[in-house]
Amino acid sequence: MTSSGLAPAIDTVAPFFEPFTLRSMTVANRFAMAPMTRDFSPGGVPGADVAEYYRKRAAGGVGLIVTEGVGVDHPAAVDWTGVPHMYGEAALAGWRGVVDAVHGAGGKIVPQLWHQGPLRNPLNSARPDVLGQRPSGLWGTPGLTSYEDDYVARMATPTAPMTEEDIADVIAAFARSARNAIDVGFDGIAIHGAHGYLIDSFFWPDTNRRTDRWGGSVRARAEFGVEIVKAIRAAIGEDLPILFRFSQHKQQDYNARFAETPEELGIILGALADAGVDMFDASIRRFTMAAFEGSDMTLPGWARKLTGKPSMTVGGIGLNNWLQDTFKGRGETLAINNLDEVRRLFDDGMFDMVAVGRALISDPEWVQKARTGAPFTPYDATSLGRLA
Ligand SMILES: Cc1cc2nc3c(=O)[nH]c(=O)nc-3n(C[C@H](O)[C@H](O)[C@H](O)COP(=O)(O)O)c2cc1C
Repeated sequence: MTSSGLAPAIDTVAPFFEPFTLRSMTVANRFAMAPMTRDFSPGGVPGADVAEYYRKRAAGGVGLIVTEGVGVDHPAAVDWTGVPHMYGEAALAGWRGVVDAVHGAGGKIVPQLWHQGPLRNPLNSARPDVLGQRPSGLWGTPGLTSYEDDYVARMATPTAPMTEEDIADVIAAFARSARNAIDVGFDGIAIHGAHGYLIDSFFWPDTNRRTDRWGGSVRARAEFGVEIVKAIRAAIGEDLPILFRFSQHKQQDYNARFAETPEELGIILGALADAGVDMFDASIRRFTMAAFEGSDMTLPGWARKLTGKPSMTVGGIGLNNWLQDTFKGRGETLAINNLDEVRRLFDDGMFDMVAVGRALISDPEWVQKARTGAPFTPYDATSLGRLA
């Protein structure tokens, strides 16, 4: 916030309203809607209400919408039955409606392809007989987490490590679903490689104890993600961009990290970049958080520096409160204008795009307000429940 408490001057945000191009996709500005799961697609099929939800954000000025996590074409991909799928005629027809609505409002949209891996809870799903896919059968060591103890205890029961066939099936599922997405008109693909879900569980040595080509060294832990990126690139061709979300923190433990040093991070992100990633969406809990001791550089800053690829930041833009505190109702979540701080980090070369999550659930017109300097609408604490 500015010291006067007023919104930063419009020239503070001017660079965020410059277009940005990744391969053949040009977005009108640097604001993206962060991927946010909703559970509003019964049977995996997004309906007219989902199209309207995204259309409103595009009409409100969001340059790039990254959808909620979308299940890939694999029986163990997602648990809740209202999470949308990227396969099957009905779901794909629904997505065509979403894409057309967003394009009609002048926006671009990419689906976040998701496999929950260790975090899939079979009991929440329509297929309780299908166990989660885990590189070494492990859920991960619980640390600082929002999950309740009894839930963690249930999920921590080890399952069978993934076989070569299991791995090949999931890679093929990502590629098929990516192709489906492009066929219904999406502008590119976003891959969910963060937060302790399947791809991240290969990066994280705590859940990946393998000693074959999929684990052991830092580079080998990248291999599953690399093969998914390559398979998607082969399925969608060279024109359209691939975004890759990664994080140090996990749902199992917010203090966990898969890379202990910038060198380790560089090995994993470099391999992903070589495989075909066009932009890294570095998921951090607060956009100012430094990634490693001894430097102020944030995770998106490191991603950009280590790979030479563009990056996207996220976490607390337009809000005073951390996501987990909002979820748990700890402290009040207030709409604040912290775009001058975002601009400072942008000028320091930390990122190219800015993802906004909760603020855009609460107010579909948030980006317009950022552009004109109009006061932000007070944060609506009930909006996370509605997600509409
Ligand atoms: C309701 C909700 C659902 C979320 N679902 C996802 C998801 O499906 N995939 C993902 O990568 N991140 C997910 N996130 C994390 C957000 O993308 C974002 O990183 C986080 O909310 C921090 O941004 P914010 O402070 O602007 O809200 C979710 C966050 C919220 C609030």
